[in-house]
Amino acid sequence: MSRRTASAGPQQDRDCSVVFSLLTITVWQIDKRKLCGYATTNFPNAGLLSGISEVHLKAIVTGSGGLVGSACARFFAEQGWQVIGLDNNMRQEFFGPQGSTSSEVVNLRQTVPGYRHYSFDIRDRQKIRDLLRSERPDMVIHTAAQPSHDKASAIPYDDFDINAVGTLNLLVAARDYCPESPICFTSTNKVYGDRPNTIPLRELDTRFDYADGRDGIDESMSIDSSLHSLFGVSKASADLLCQEFGRYYNMPTGIFRCGCLTGPHHAAVELHGYLAYIVLCAVRGKPYSVYGYQGKQVRDQIHCSDVASLFLEFYKSPRPGEVFNLGGGRANSISIVETIAALGDMGFDLEYQMFEKNRIGDHICYISDISKVRTCYPGWEMQYDLPRILTEMAARYCAAETRSATKGRLRRRRRSGSDRLAPPVPESL
Ligand SMILES: NC(=O)c1ccc[n+]([C@@H]2O[C@H](COP(=O)([O-])OP(=O)(O)OC[C@H]3O[C@@H](n4cnc5c(N)ncnc54)[C@H](O)[C@@H]3O)[C@@H](O)[C@H]2O)c1
Repeated sequence: MSRRTASAGPQQDRDCSVVFSLLTITVWQIDKRKLCGYATTNFPNAGLLSGISEVHLKAIVTGSGGLVGSACARFFAEQGWQVIGLDNNMRQEFFGPQGSTSSEVVNLRQTVPGYRHYSFDIRDRQKIRDLLRSERPDMVIHTAAQPSHDKASAIPYDDFDINAVGTLNLLVAARDYCPESPICFTSTNKVYGDRPNTIPLRELDTRFDYADGRDGIDESMSIDSSLHSLFGVSKASADLLCQEFGRYYNMPTGIFRCGCLTGPHHAAVELHGYLAYIVLCAVRGKPYSVYGYQGKQVRDQIHCSDVASLFLEFYKSPRPGEVFNLGGGRANSISIVETIAALGDMGFDLEYQMFEKNRIGDHICYISDISKVRTCYPGWEMQYDLPRILTEMAARYCAAETRSATKGRLRRRRRSGSDRLAPPVPESL
């Protein structure tokens, strides 16, 4: 049995000084190398988990205020990990106050035992180096990003500096201070550019589907010679960097090319977080715009906690520079018109407008083939199907609506003075 204790670094935020007793977790390592047939190397951290081990572990999660980062922070803390988050709420700069993730960070600080937070910019190379040098994490989950391909063309320097150079900052620091610690990088299916649109499609009543009967798109699709959007390019650069650090430096980097990641904690805005945003519009009675393909474009949806649990499997059995397509797969695929119908069945009639013009580089039908991930990580099981995803989201947004309506009513009553206590009636009357 081997035991590993996370060491606290000298460079902690003041409010990071909470000392807590690290929980002990037991993890099992199953050798799946033969199952997958990919080149793997012995990583000291993975070796730690051979057989049954008791370990104390520390994870750094970049973008911890965001949808995926916050889910990972919660999930890993629930498994007994010490979690350190990094997020400077850049999302608010990208998308305005509606995109702010600061309340999520407040929530993590309040509800996740021992959670510590840094709020500097991933572009700050020296600070990233200091962080990894002082914390020496056992795992890094890298989700901080400019996440919208529409937004990227308006802020090309920021987009590239954050997505590509920010990732390079993290990789070099990891190489220098924790080279054996697995790194999970949330890449995107946009690295394939519009190539998925070259697959012959058939048009059905409510969606497009692949004419050749394939289940989905696998990792063999080329990322070359297609229209990506600047976002697709900055993410593809980061994706290649992560692959290269795996191959060149033999670091355990996992590159997860995600389809639509979703969950109720998304600070959904029109430009990013389609499913959460459409549900939000339906619940709030806000009009929604559909761009192109008569709303028959298809996406597969995966809940962010299912992504987090997969990252733990990667930690247990890491591989250098391995690329995985990740999404909800065919079972969790849905078109926009099907989403509108499902919301209608749930009692939320969406008001929407159809525009003929599609978004540049938008996929018509994208369903991830997740057989590689399933083969390599047979212990991983998705917990969320589409009805569960939609129900959870709608319930959360309804609860938020009720809370804000109650607050609004109280504010109005306060202004009109109607909720002031009635003056006491004099006894003599
Ligand atoms: N949500 C999806 O559907 C989806 C699909 C494919 C890939 N991805 C990828 O998954 C990752 C996470 O996506 P998400 O939906 O959770 O995004 P998100 O916008 O909800 O979270 C990203 C977080 O990173 C933070 N951030 C941005 N720039 C930063 C910087 N310079 N320094 C520090 N923090 C910074 C933001 O403030 C935000 O809280 C991203 O890399 C994204 O490209 C997401």
